[in-house]
Amino acid sequence: MLTDHRDRRRSYQRNAAEDSPWSTAAGGRGKDPRSYFARDVTRDGGVIAIRAIRPDDKRRLCEHFRHLGPTSAYFRFFSPKRRISEQDLISLTEIDFLRNVTLVATLSIQGAERIVGLGQYVLDDDRSRRAQLACSVVDAYQGRGIGALLIEHLLGIARACGVVDFAADVLGDNHPMLRLLAKSGLVTHRSTQAGVVHLTFSGAEADQFLAAA
Ligand SMILES: CC(C)(COP(=O)(O)OP(=O)(O)OC[C@H]1O[C@@H](n2cnc3c(N)ncnc32)[C@H](O)[C@@H]1OP(=O)(O)O)[C@@H](O)C(=O)NCCC(=O)NCCS
Repeated sequence: MLTDHRDRRRSYQRNAAEDSPWSTAAGGRGKDPRSYFARDVTRDGGVIAIRAIRPDDKRRLCEHFRHLGPTSAYFRFFSPKRRISEQDLISLTEIDFLRNVTLVATLSIQGAERIVGLGQYVLDDDRSRRAQLACSVVDAYQGRGIGALLIEHLLGIARACGVVDFAADVLGDNHPMLRLLAKSGLVTHRSTQAGVVHLTFSGAEADQFLAAA
């Protein structure tokens, strides 16, 4: 099953002959995550766009959070939060792509672009090379490999941008996220405090995962 999916992705990538997801930064130095754009294949064979979040995504992002069920929202925010404020929308969409990198997975549904998945890493502080990962996939689209794709694209960006360590805080009963990371072979250290599992892995482990993907 996994091999089928991998084969489909490779075949799509060969045939689509898409441009690189990266557009090079001004002056040709380095890669600029703010214009990252890729297409990829979900486990059910659909094609999905994975791109950098933009300031004009606020309404789509609101919809995204509205389509997270209560359990998913709780797992994402660690509280029964159901609404996001204007300020939240600004801080989620108007980001620097240095300390905070956010990707959205989008599909065209009834002619409108919808954000079905969101993946984010945030560096602990300006000088840190350690990134905290988080993601969410709307309930109706979970289980199709979108979360795994978002993590993969995020890790690719993070490694290209010099991130050397990764961490994720996951509620102990969030089996989907714990399984997603465990199945990727990414998590090497874990500790639990007050019901929250703190997971960490290194850049080298991320590279191994990316090479095998
Ligand atoms: C965690 C989450 C992002 C996974 O996204 P997804 O697109 O459903 O995940 P994928 O389809 O890529 O699945 C990857 C792996 O996760 C695991 N998984 C996914 N859904 C699962 C479920 N309901 N139960 C158990 N494991 C599950 C599986 O191991 C799966 O691989 P497999 O089906 O080959 O066994 C999604 O469930 C979600 O948004 N949850 C709410 C928010 C959240 O918990 N965010 C993480 C904390 S920041």
